[in-house]
Amino acid sequence: MEYLPFFTFFCSLILLLNTELSFAADMITPTQFIRDGETLISSSQSFELGFFSPGNSNSRYVGIWYKISPKTVVWVANRKDPIPDRQGALTIDDNGILVLINQNKSIILSSNSSRVPENPVVQLLDSGNLVLRDSHDMSSESYMWQSFDYPSDTLLPGMKLGWNLKPLFERQLTPWKSADDPYPGDFTFRLDINVVPQLFITAAPSRKVVRSGPWDGLTFGGVPMMHNKVFKPRFVHTEDELYYAYEPFYDTVITQILVNPSGQVQRRVWNERIRGWRIMFSWPFDICDNYAECGASAYCRTSKTPNCVCLKGFESKSQDEWDTPETRKCVKKSPTESDCLNGEGFQMLKRMKLPDVNWFNQSMNIEECHVECLKNCSCRAYANFDEVGGSGGCLMWFSDLIDMKQCSNPLTAGQGIFIRVPASELANDFIKKKRIKIISSVSAIVGSFILGLVFWKAWKKTKNKGNKFIGS
Ligand SMILES: *[C@@H]1O[C@H](CO)[C@@H](O)[C@H](O)[C@H]1NC(C)=O
Ligand SMILES: *[C@@H]1O[C@H](CO)[C@@H](O)[C@H](O)[C@H]1NC(C)=O
Ligand SMILES: *[C@@H]1O[C@H](CO)[C@@H](O)[C@H](O)[C@H]1NC(C)=O
Ligand SMILES: *[C@@H]1O[C@H](CO)[C@@H](O)[C@H](O)[C@H]1NC(C)=O
Repeated sequence: MEYLPFFTFFCSLILLLNTELSFAADMITPTQFIRDGETLISSSQSFELGFFSPGNSNSRYVGIWYKISPKTVVWVANRKDPIPDRQGALTIDDNGILVLINQNKSIILSSNSSRVPENPVVQLLDSGNLVLRDSHDMSSESYMWQSFDYPSDTLLPGMKLGWNLKPLFERQLTPWKSADDPYPGDFTFRLDINVVPQLFITAAPSRKVVRSGPWDGLTFGGVPMMHNKVFKPRFVHTEDELYYAYEPFYDTVITQILVNPSGQVQRRVWNERIRGWRIMFSWPFDICDNYAECGASAYCRTSKTPNCVCLKGFESKSQDEWDTPETRKCVKKSPTESDCLNGEGFQMLKRMKLPDVNWFNQSMNIEECHVECLKNCSCRAYANFDEVGGSGGCLMWFSDLIDMKQCSNPLTAGQGIFIRVPASELANDFIKKKRIKIISSVSAIVGSFILGLVFWKAWKKTKNKGNKFIGS
């Protein structure tokens, strides 16, 4: 009898442990459900999956959030299909498909793949990836379906922003409509690969809002703080894939990329001391990041005002720096002068975010690039594609140079670009240089003459003094 209390305690402990275990599972099999109120927790407790209502909303969504920060939802399964009540459940159906069911309908999350798993399980991994896999093949990373292929507004370490080439599909980020509604907002953050890889923030339907320069082998030009001690950017280009991803430098660092409802891309780092997110940087970063801020034939800078600088051979049509980008135009100084095979040359601008790219040849090196551009009258500029990586490639511009930015911030990478300038500008340059040379030679001559005079006088004085001494 004495032992009864202890016995009951022991039993309830076992019961407690049991229920704890069943709640703390990281996967379900086809006979199991995750009902509203239940969650999956990844094996090392980093991420949790379950039902939630965002902000002031009463609708229910299935999401994945950080265990340490349940308010930070990184993925939403049913962004467009909120569940009105608490009757929703997540399960695997008879065909091995992951479905979210409510009273009346089922929302299909995964689809039939060519390989239907024999023993399907759905597992929440420690990376935050929800995967459909075969329970007899748990070591393999070949998933029948994974949430990382359908990003919401967050890019976690290991997720890919960009393209699968075979079969062709794209992974892009879209923000929530608002803090209360995960429905996809009007912006997208994506990797454009039409000519060369460039990052874009676009607004619906397809207006360019912000653009990075092309990947230069190490970073995307114009994007702040790609060099840092928090995360390593990674750019992968194989026959099958073309994407951007990143890994944290240290396992203890918790970091993410988020697109917020106003279309701003934020790099965030978890700060354990304040138990909150610190924003490492935002993009767009300054006024010069706005797409085509200065119009054509100009570049933007933040180091001085006015921000817009016309390229050599162009001048501003109006001096009013409050002009809108549409009216702020740089026009040719001497429209009648032909800058074709007429003695023109190139001006090199350093540390620039290259203009929006529309022509690229991988097999040409920078010398061939120069020769071809000079020969072709419609070539406005050229640049080395892989300036850092050294694998070559030639970029040329045959239309207006748009969205160029001077990267004066030392944490932002920029590249060199060679811009065609008419002969008259080169002549101006030559005259200017010559004038400077003449002025400096004249001042050198005058300077040495004065110096000589001073020395001569001083020498004469001491000589006179000396004479006096000798004389006395
Ligand atoms: C289910 O369908 C009935 C009738 O069509 C409708 O009144 C009810 O609101 C639906 N319930 C849910 C949860 O969608
Ligand atoms: C999935 O495949 C099974 C068997 O091939 C088929 O019966 C079912 O209709 C398919 N479901 C969908 C959603 O395509
Ligand atoms: C690229 O340049 C090489 C060498 O000049 C040339 O043979 C090739 O046709 C070019 N490719 C394209 C797509 O212009
Ligand atoms: C200049 O380059 C453009 C674009 O590649 C091409 O269409 C055009 O024919 C070239 N012109 C000359 C004169 O080579």
